[in-house]
Amino acid sequence: MVQYHTVHYVPASHPLILPQNLTPAGIPEDELILSSTVVTGAALEVLQNIPAGLAQVVVTSPPYWSLRDYDIPGQIGLEDDPDAYIESLVKVFAEVQRVLADDGTLWLNIGDSYTSGGRTWRAPDKKNPARAMATRPPTPPGLKSKDLVGIPWKLAFALQKAGWYLRSDIVWRKPNTTPESVKDRPTRSHEYLFLLTKSERYFYDHRAVREANDRQVRSVWDINTEGLRDVHFATFPTKLVEPCILLGSQRGDVVLDPFFGSGTVGVVAIETGRAFLGIELNPTYVEIAKRRLDTMGGRFDRRVEQIESIAV
Ligand SMILES: C[S@@+](CC[C@H](N)C(=O)[O-])C[C@H]1O[C@@H](n2cnc3c(N)ncnc32)[C@H](O)[C@@H]1O
Repeated sequence: MVQYHTVHYVPASHPLILPQNLTPAGIPEDELILSSTVVTGAALEVLQNIPAGLAQVVVTSPPYWSLRDYDIPGQIGLEDDPDAYIESLVKVFAEVQRVLADDGTLWLNIGDSYTSGGRTWRAPDKKNPARAMATRPPTPPGLKSKDLVGIPWKLAFALQKAGWYLRSDIVWRKPNTTPESVKDRPTRSHEYLFLLTKSERYFYDHRAVREANDRQVRSVWDINTEGLRDVHFATFPTKLVEPCILLGSQRGDVVLDPFFGSGTVGVVAIETGRAFLGIELNPTYVEIAKRRLDTMGGRFDRRVEQIESIAV
């Protein structure tokens, strides 16, 4: 048995069918299917306890390789070798695939990393204090110092090999990207967002999001990054999440984010009339997510917090 801290938001209009072993005490049965949930725990373990087919759409941004120390045991992203990192993510996404509806979609935002160039730590950066790292992985075998690792495509191909349909690479272009002090390569101003599916045919509401002149959504999205006060790690912008949820689900569906961070996916899910299930390892970030979700208070009747035991 493992104990998890859970927070259930119980509104009147956003259904979520909770896994039986995560049934919160004190919520009447008919309201159980009307709540959104944040679980504090490791994505893989928690997902193993979620029923198959619960989520219609998954929008998520896993920790990037060797970029940030989230300072908590069990975190993904500090593996010495990028292949080990990819392997951890492939395992998590195998569970995600089970929890996704057969006609569901996964929208996966992932950034690239450079090898450390021989430095074994990263000093705090004035603009971005969370990028300080006490340890940085050594240059992995097969790569040279200063190499761009190519993480997004390595991960995309690994997921494809594991059975996912790789349907689209979307370039998230950041017009307001953070300047870099490098003098020997262009400043990075994009990240990838992959659209992956469980089946060949799937739910995709192409009418839900249109570009100027009623054009179909294209594969380069211009979206500014959004900083959150008091949050020193990378959150993705609500504007990046919104089209994924609108294209991939309908009102009342469940949106899953197994790396919930500050809860951006929860915020957009509620704004667009969906329920959410968020999983986050770091209790400090769960507190941030709760603060954000609580500002949407009018949309919930109540919040139920408790420790729940689930069999692992
Ligand atoms: C890139 S951040 C996600 C940010 C989020 N999209 C937002 O907008 O706030 C990745 C998150 O994954 C969490 N994380 C790291 N390892 C994890 C694990 N094994 N299970 C669940 N969460 C994990 C980190 O604590 C961090 O909050």
